[in-house]
Parts: sequence; structure tokens; C-alpha cells
Amino acid sequence: MWSIICHGGAGSISSDVETAHREGCEGALRAGIEILERGGAALDAVCETVRRLEDNPVFNAGIGATVDENGMVSCDAAVCNGRDLGYGAVGAVSGVRHPIDLARAVMEDGRHALLVGPGAIQFARQRGIELVDPKRMETDPSRARWWFTSAESPPEGDTVGAVARDRSGHLAAATSTGGLLRKYAGRVGDSPIAGAGTYARDDLGAVSATGHGETFMRTVFAFQALQSLSRAPEAPEEVLRLELDQATARIGGRGGAILVLPDGRIAFARNTDRMGVAWAAQGKPLQTAF
Ligand code: GLY
Repeated sequence: MWSIICHGGAGSISSDVETAHREGCEGALRAGIEILERGGAALDAVCETVRRLEDNPVFNAGIGATVDENGMVSCDAAVCNGRDLGYGAVGAVSGVRHPIDLARAVMEDGRHALLVGPGAIQFARQRGIELVDPKRMETDPSRARWWFTSAESPPEGDTVGAVARDRSGHLAAATSTGGLLRKYAGRVGDSPIAGAGTYARDDLGAVSATGHGETFMRTVFAFQALQSLSRAPEAPEEVLRLELDQATARIGGRGGAILVLPDGRIAFARNTDRMGVAWAAQGKPLQTAF
């Protein structure tokens, strides 16, 4: 049985953009479903889903990602293959049209797991990953967030991600983000950190997190959640929510997460006001939540 779930970020998101978030998640998920339906790999499905979310300026990833303290877009992304623990990630990259493509290229190269800054851009050039003028990553919504949201405001919607199980029982997770609004230049969040914002292991599950990255890094959130789920697999949504609440109570911040278990069950949880989500499974209809 295949199954897949994606998120468009957790946060204090205005209800004005509910339709855009639901439709954006749904459209991206359909690309992943198509891959899984024809027997494709979970890894391909999550990368394609996240790629579509990066293309949608409604979300804080890829085109339209939010800006740092200097008004610049810089992105983080990661992909994890549950089949062999293949892992590729990039941090603080500017002008990469699809950061998830670069993360996947890092994984496929296999020599390292995480590349950051100018070295990551050099690697992108060598691998033929599409680069654009960093200014083109900004859009009216991302600029508007910078000008009209105070530094103290919670993020409007943070990060995109997808997790999936394919017909062969393999799992994968992918996450991509512009990070926190007005972050320090050079800041890297949880999304590209293995076991914090992104993780997949065939025998445990796959998780993609969204929210306050420092919290997820300091609690090794994704791996911790999967460990807890392996001890109480009968109530995945409750366990995920408990892990989320414990992490944010300990460190601060808020967020959300999606997961798929080895048997294909999917779940999501958030302790923010909203989080756009879309999910589907073999023989079951696509659903969305916000
Ligand atoms: N969760 C995304 C970030 O903090 O960068």
C-alpha cells in the first residue's frame, strides 16, 4: 500500500489564504500520488511534491521564501531515504531555484550529507542545478512579510514538506524552507539537520517538521518522535502531538509535523493556529486540512 502526506507550513496563517494553502498542498500532492500510483519510489514522490510546493509563492520555500535580517532570501532543504538512510541537505543557499533538487544531488553524490553557503552553490553549478538571481526568489508576499510583520510576530507559515511510503514499503521524507522571518544572515534551521526537521527510516517511519527550528534541533525532534512512536504505534497522532508539546514546552516556539509509519498509516499534528496539509493513500481519496 502506498501513502503520502504533505504540509505547507505551520503558523499563524490568515484564513484569507486558506483556499490557496489547501489548493497548493493538494496540487503538489497530486504530483506525488501520480508517482506512487505507477509504482514509483517514495523518494521520487516526496521530492516532486516538495518541488511543486517550492514553485508556489504562497509557501515559505523556494520562490517566495521569506527573507532574513538583510532582506535576502536564503533557503534550507533536505531529503532522507528510509531505505538506506541516504541523506542530502543544503543550508543557507541563495539563488537556488529548487533547493530540494540540490539536497537530492548532495544525497546522490554520497560523499557528504550537508553543504552550506558558497560551497553549496559551487556544487550546484557543477551538477547543473538551476540557479537564478537571488532577487528572483523574492515575491510580493515575501517582501510584504518583511515590511509589514514585526520581528516579534510569529511566522505566517513556515516550511514545506512531504513524507511517503511506496508500494515496496520504502519510506522517504523531504523538507524545504526559507526559515524564520528576519533570521540572522547565515542562520540554518532544523529542516536540513538529520533527525531534527527531517528523517526517514524504513523500520521506524518518516517525519517532516515545520515551526521553530531551534526547538526541533535542540530536541532532535523527528528522531525522538519516531522513537516514541515505535513504543506506542497505535496512536500516532496523539504521540506526535505529545512530542510536539513537550519539545515546545521545554524550549519555546510552536510548530507542526507530518509522519508516515512503516505500515503506511499517516498522521499530522500542530500546536500552531493553522497548518495546511494534504494526504492520500492507495484506494482512499485525497483530503486536505488547514
Ligand atoms: N522550521 C524551519 C526553520 O526554523 O527554519
